[in-house]
Amino acid sequence: MGKDKPVILTCAQPTGHLHLGNYLGAIKNWVSLLDDYQCYFGIVDLHAITVPYTPAELRKNTYACLAQYIACGLDPAKCRIFVQSHIIGHTELAWVLGCLTPLGQLQRMTQFKDKARGNDSGSVGSGLLYYPILMAADILLYNADLVPVGDDQKQHLELTRDIAIKFNNTYSPTFKVPEPYKQGSGGRVMSLQDPMNKMSKSETNQSGALFLLDPPDILRKKIMSAVTDTGKEIVAREDKLGITNLLNIMSAVTNRPVPDLEKEFTGQGYAAFKSAVADAVVALFQPIQERYNALMRDKEVLSQVLQEGAADAQKRAYRMISKVYRKAGFVERPSIEE
Ligand code: TRP
Repeated sequence: MGKDKPVILTCAQPTGHLHLGNYLGAIKNWVSLLDDYQCYFGIVDLHAITVPYTPAELRKNTYACLAQYIACGLDPAKCRIFVQSHIIGHTELAWVLGCLTPLGQLQRMTQFKDKARGNDSGSVGSGLLYYPILMAADILLYNADLVPVGDDQKQHLELTRDIAIKFNNTYSPTFKVPEPYKQGSGGRVMSLQDPMNKMSKSETNQSGALFLLDPPDILRKKIMSAVTDTGKEIVAREDKLGITNLLNIMSAVTNRPVPDLEKEFTGQGYAAFKSAVADAVVALFQPIQERYNALMRDKEVLSQVLQEGAADAQKRAYRMISKVYRKAGFVERPSIEE
């Protein structure tokens, strides 16, 4: 990783079930950044405990998530992948930043409001409110230049920028004010069952999402039963959301423009088109699944990746938290030999 290249950092909560929307909207774009930036990817397990969860599941999902990322092309030789809880500094920085952030600003975050809605405030974990501060710490701890985030995280990045500016003004210039990184296309993969809404792992109807680890026959079945309209034409149009979504998927998966696909499938029925989409998705996922299975059989490689990621990330994080503590007026920390 060239040390003079700009730093890009992004993080995701550990999920055992990445889907086509995650792949096309995020992971594929990250992979394209590896050569031009110093890339840090955090699997944010501390964020994952802000809602009720099962410890054994979290541990399993963390490994599964790491293996899926690597299988999708996040080459550990070209970037740093780390687990948030391994790095000392995230929660420490979050505390300092939290003390600078007015409560009202956190209460106004739409994701907090959405997640807390319907629960009485007495039962909502305070971690949920504090979540964006921890996210700001993730970003500022590495002094990231750029942060690729989806639309749902733009507000949190705005908050991060506010906090960085406030810290710099309160103490002295310390943090770069991070910019959002505009992701390429392919960002909006809709549910196969409800093309008005984004593909999501929490869909009540799981046949709307194509999971990276779904066996080929399941992928095929889901695509063949995707919701379409009663017409016959294979064109991208506002009144044909289902077909439009499938065309967009096909286009992103095969790197071919939608108009080309429309032309190719003119006069063919929905079934033939869907079957071609299924072939393309299966062809994309199959090698990913093979690499995933190999990685999960041999956890040594995964541990090694985390070891190397943590060593590099910790060095960077330690430098930053030491600087922040100094500016905050804490006396120098004694060096402690283990
Ligand atoms: N909040 C992000 C999400 O749910 C995950 C996240 C945590 C993140 N820390 C981050 C994303 C830092 C980018 C940078 O998607």
